[in-house]
Amino acid sequence: MPQAVISGTGLYQPPHVITNAELVEAFNRYATLQNEKNADAIARGEQAAMTMSSVEFIEKASGIKQRYVIEKSGVLDPLRMYPRFEERGDDQLSLMGEIAVDAARKALAAAGKTAADIDAVFCAAANMQRAYPAMAVEIQNALGAGGYGFDMNVACSSATFAFEQAVNAVRSGSARCVLVVNPEITSAHLEWRDRDCHFIFGDVCTATIIESAETATSADQWEVLGTKLATQFSNAIRNNFGFMNRSEDSDPLARDKTFRQEGRKVFKEVVPLAAAHIEAHLAAMNLEPTQMRRFWLHQANLGMNQLILKKLVGAEPGGDLAPLVLDTYANTASAGSVIAFHEYRGDLKSGDLGVICSFGAGYSIGSVIVRKK
Ligand SMILES: CC(C)(COP(=O)(O)OP(=O)(O)OC[C@H]1O[C@@H](n2cnc3c(N)ncnc32)[C@H](O)[C@@H]1OP(=O)(O)O)[C@@H](O)C(=O)NCCC(=O)NCCS
Repeated sequence: MPQAVISGTGLYQPPHVITNAELVEAFNRYATLQNEKNADAIARGEQAAMTMSSVEFIEKASGIKQRYVIEKSGVLDPLRMYPRFEERGDDQLSLMGEIAVDAARKALAAAGKTAADIDAVFCAAANMQRAYPAMAVEIQNALGAGGYGFDMNVACSSATFAFEQAVNAVRSGSARCVLVVNPEITSAHLEWRDRDCHFIFGDVCTATIIESAETATSADQWEVLGTKLATQFSNAIRNNFGFMNRSEDSDPLARDKTFRQEGRKVFKEVVPLAAAHIEAHLAAMNLEPTQMRRFWLHQANLGMNQLILKKLVGAEPGGDLAPLVLDTYANTASAGSVIAFHEYRGDLKSGDLGVICSFGAGYSIGSVIVRKK
């Protein structure tokens, strides 16, 4: 069986930054306007007044300091509170396709490959822009790649789940060189008008080349020693947007058609699941957490990563062992652990071991154990 290696990664970083201060100012203007509009109902006790958000809360509760977004003016407009994207014609490359192609080209260059070398494209993200044709097929076409492509969605674990599919495709011989892209336009499904979650997400796209060790020529190769996926149903993170909405005569703009979560519950339930998952995966491969040179963890919350790392090795994350990118990128759904891997691996040496691990809605957890060649 051919061995699978990660031979290159690429990152699309959106052009705009929204700082916590800007975000909170826009939210508080929106909340003030709402309270003015509903003053009578609030005075009669029929409606609760909206409470203001705060930079201090966001940084303390999440560790997030800013986020990148593709479009900023709509998000910060208190009369709108979501991005402004222009509808594109069927003959134009879609926005998801565009950011995926950008990240893919960078990953191809890093791996020393051209689009002609790609024989499978997996587009894995928490949301797809449309039902069909698959985003992956559009991306395959835009790049000029061959083979086949498909979309997959396991929310925040989409990337690691796609890595396993890519590794399996390489090992089985159904593909020799796979492109995995994670275009996350989270700004379009985040509820920016909800104080409990308006700070959570940012936009980004990551791309990863997973290929047979026999064809890999990159100077930076990572053997995939093993992958392990797990799911366990939960409604604690949910978005009911979908093709059934019209037939159900439900309101397409209702609160349940964007991201919502019970943050505390997610925190409490997912931390032990993720730590136990990584530990079990390593144990199955006769490895100890302390042998890991790096943990590239999902980037949702600083406190979650601190607790996971403490459970695994008794250490605090940040810096060297489990680098954080959520302070600058926020939670980028499936792309978070891949951004960490993209930005924080250059200092590792041949033989060094690490784990890429995602966790999120589903619940879903995916771990990928890698060794620097
Ligand atoms: C979302 C999350 C950051 C919230 O942090 P938390 O410490 O659990 O905060 P809570 O929601 O319990 O709120 C604590 C208090 O702050 C208040 N608060 C909530 N949002 C606020 C905001 N933006 N500004 C100021 N105060 C806020 C709440 O009203 C609450 O007040 P109360 O104690 O008087 O009721 C945290 O639960 C989390 O990260 N969970 C992980 C889940 C996750 O990130 N999932 C993403 C998908 S993988």
